[in-house]
Amino acid sequence: MGQKENNHDDNNEEVERRGQQSNKKRKRKEVAIFGNYRNYYGYRVGQDLEEDPRLKVLKKEWFEGKDCLDIGCNNGTITITIAKNFGCRSILGVDIDGDRVQDAYWNLRRTVKTNTRKIPPKTSKLEDAGGVNGVQNSVTNLETEETRESLMNCSSLQGKDLLNIVTFRKENFVQNWWPPEDKCYHTILCLSVTKWIHLNWGDDGLITLFAKIWKLLQPGGILILEPQPWQSYYKNRQVSEMAQTNYHNIKIYPDGFQEILLDKIGFRMVENITSRLSGSKSGFDRPILAFWK
Ligand SMILES: C[S@@+](CC[C@H](N)C(=O)[O-])C[C@H]1O[C@@H](n2cnc3c(N)ncnc32)[C@H](O)[C@@H]1O
Repeated sequence: MGQKENNHDDNNEEVERRGQQSNKKRKRKEVAIFGNYRNYYGYRVGQDLEEDPRLKVLKKEWFEGKDCLDIGCNNGTITITIAKNFGCRSILGVDIDGDRVQDAYWNLRRTVKTNTRKIPPKTSKLEDAGGVNGVQNSVTNLETEETRESLMNCSSLQGKDLLNIVTFRKENFVQNWWPPEDKCYHTILCLSVTKWIHLNWGDDGLITLFAKIWKLLQPGGILILEPQPWQSYYKNRQVSEMAQTNYHNIKIYPDGFQEILLDKIGFRMVENITSRLSGSKSGFDRPILAFWK
């Protein structure tokens, strides 16, 4: 009997150990099926670059005083930098992954803090509100009377402006989301997102994306599009069963996006703006196209 009990305990320990190992493996193998990488900018921008080189090809006039939308904003790095450098009237970042949206709010808070020259000491509670992982997911946390008042009272305009200008939302852009009150945008960014929408929702998803962008743009508005090349789909084709099926059924290739956007969707003009981007680190050598509605 004693022997049996010992065996039983040993078995339980073994099962637990295997469970822990497979948990570790699962954690290590976390697959970003939407391109929702946690450390996307660490990988793309690298140690040797201070700023995302794509920003160099964007013109201030496309954003200054404008209402903007960033589809697939990830952790908000580009969204916040554009708001800060170019002075948007508003910019909304949407991402399908709620964790990335939380990261984006965390980055927004950090940027506000560093751009706010004098914050009264009690505002340091803002940092505490970041929780153990430094992550709090909603702007409501920033809007507690205390923190908002402190930020509004500070001498730097930039801090309080950013809070009013930048917002993030967790949304699946190609499925159910529409902005409130028929809002339209002057400028829409869709950078390195088409592959993920294409793999997850196929050609239909891609056309939905393009048609929805067109509808959301004001007349004269601009779409800044950075499509991933077809060769890059191969390595991600197995992120899910759906992606695998879609990969084999795709009939619209990235080389044909420009024609579809001009001839079928209705954009009137396109410019390849990447010719201005020289000497960039690999990974940023994809063409970036600007389309005018
Ligand atoms: C590779 S990242 C690109 C991030 C950023 N646009 C850039 O270029 O720096 C793609 C992002 O698109 C998001 N995404 C993919 N499908 C989406 C969808 N249907 N709706 C909203 N976001 C989506 C992912 O979660 C991910 O954060």
